Amino acid sequence: MLLSRPTFLAFLVVSSVAEDVARNDQARGVESEPPFTLKAPEMTLTLVPDEPYGRNPPVPQPTSFDIQERQAAVGPGTTLQKGWYWIRAVAAPNYHKYLQTKPAVAAGTALLESYTTAGQFNVADGQLVENTGDGQTAPLYMWVEKPASSGSTPRTLATWFNTTKNPFGAFAFQGDALTWSTPEVQRQNVAAWLVCKGQALFINTGAYAYQTPAGCSDQTIHYYNDAHANN
Ligand SMILES: *[C@@H]1O[C@H](CO)[C@@H](O)[C@H](O)[C@H]1NC(C)=O
Repeated sequence: MLLSRPTFLAFLVVSSVAEDVARNDQARGVESEPPFTLKAPEMTLTLVPDEPYGRNPPVPQPTSFDIQERQAAVGPGTTLQKGWYWIRAVAAPNYHKYLQTKPAVAAGTALLESYTTAGQFNVADGQLVENTGDGQTAPLYMWVEKPASSGSTPRTLATWFNTTKNPFGAFAFQGDALTWSTPEVQRQNVAAWLVCKGQALFINTGAYAYQTPAGCSDQTIHYYNDAHANN
């Protein structure tokens, strides 16, 4: 409220007159109405009460999450990020099946599955690293089953993803083919993989396409850097 100096002075005078009148009335024991009401014209204060809680509009609460949507929301998405690759088979029966886990971008068995849920990978310091999304605070690493120290090497070694680095062997790209090797396991072909029951991916410690274990398919797997995985 802004009052010009004359208006303000007039206001003070009128106020003190009103007080005097009230005092005189009190002194005489008369209960009187104030002779007039003072009102500063610009001083209208509008108080807006808060909405009582009960009257707030209801906020929609999600009661359940669609699991598919949630899975799509995690990880790097379906466009290849810079510095990462798709990894896929290029021969039947897993032609253009891609390396991933199920659920996607989570610790679990390494699978070759649909391009729609393909993971993004790279090799660094012998580790096969999975991109878990922007920021790279917690990537996943492919692990390889370590055979018992006694006895002969099994034909297949399981593979899976874990949040810590793989302590057994080293991955490398040879050309575009993903290889794994360790001095502890003699292999005829370090690029030989097997895809077995449930699309699970195994290291093939034997020869490629020779005495293929029942229920498995020989595959090599290769990096691919198109913006989108496809079949
Ligand atoms: C995952 O990594 C942790 C830490 O290295 C290890 O203790 C655990 O056994 C691993 N789990 C699997 C399934 O590899």
